[in-house]
Amino acid sequence: MGTPGTKRGPDADERRKVTTTDILSRKQGEKIVSVTAYDYPTAKLVDSAGIDIILVGDSLGMVVLGYPDTTRVTMDDMVHHTAAVARARPQALVVADLPFLAAGVSVRDTIGHAGRLVREAGAEAVKLEGGVRIREEIRALVDCQIPVMGHVGLTPQSIHAFGGFKIQGKTQEAAEQVLRDAIAVQEGGAFAVVLEGIPSRLGTRITHELDIPTIGIGAGPGCDGQVLVIHDMLHLFLDFTPKFAKLYADVGDMTCAALTSFREEVRDGRFPAEEHCY
Ligand code: KIV
Repeated sequence: MGTPGTKRGPDADERRKVTTTDILSRKQGEKIVSVTAYDYPTAKLVDSAGIDIILVGDSLGMVVLGYPDTTRVTMDDMVHHTAAVARARPQALVVADLPFLAAGVSVRDTIGHAGRLVREAGAEAVKLEGGVRIREEIRALVDCQIPVMGHVGLTPQSIHAFGGFKIQGKTQEAAEQVLRDAIAVQEGGAFAVVLEGIPSRLGTRITHELDIPTIGIGAGPGCDGQVLVIHDMLHLFLDFTPKFAKLYADVGDMTCAALTSFREEVRDGRFPAEEHCY
């Protein structure tokens, strides 16, 4: 087991707090790197690797809570998990998702929900799914000094409307709609926008058209940054792995092997050994 609090990232000593203005200034500069986390120890690990943005995504509904999609995640779920991440006091920027129906219904409610994520949970910015439809809500949040990250394309909260997890922007008309949504997010005052599940060519085009950074997930290499769900990268979520996710370490397999060893050692009396006893 490592020493508690061990710094792992290459520049861990020189790192300072990442802010939304830092992210904005990375447009077409050094690529932005973001990973999800939903709890305190994972946030510590992600931060020690020098990741720029910790996203407390509502993907937690699927990879942590076992729901079939993200639509059942509540504001209380998001506050609970965001607070755990914020307690790690990461240098990375902490962005929390507004879950299904927490935005897009009324501007007043959206401000209230986003306010909870900042005031109660310690988020430093919020992420909202949608484009043209929620431009005024983004504007209202920014006016209230709550930084916003947008999210367009295959927005998972819309899966019932989309008829499933379907790549967006495949036809000319659909591509124009995704572009319009991304522009609306920028016009609302967001500091960055996630592009999810769109053809790579469209990801590159939107990145060129916008002044704010784009952060892709299944949107190709032309984006200003990339985000992945940590459970997908580490094979901690076993139900399925999306095409856009790369497996960086099979921690799921390692965990299973470790637990099998534990079971065997307890059953045959090798654990606990002398050094584990008082
Ligand atoms: O909920 C989430 O983790 C997300 C990312 C997939 C971008 O929104």
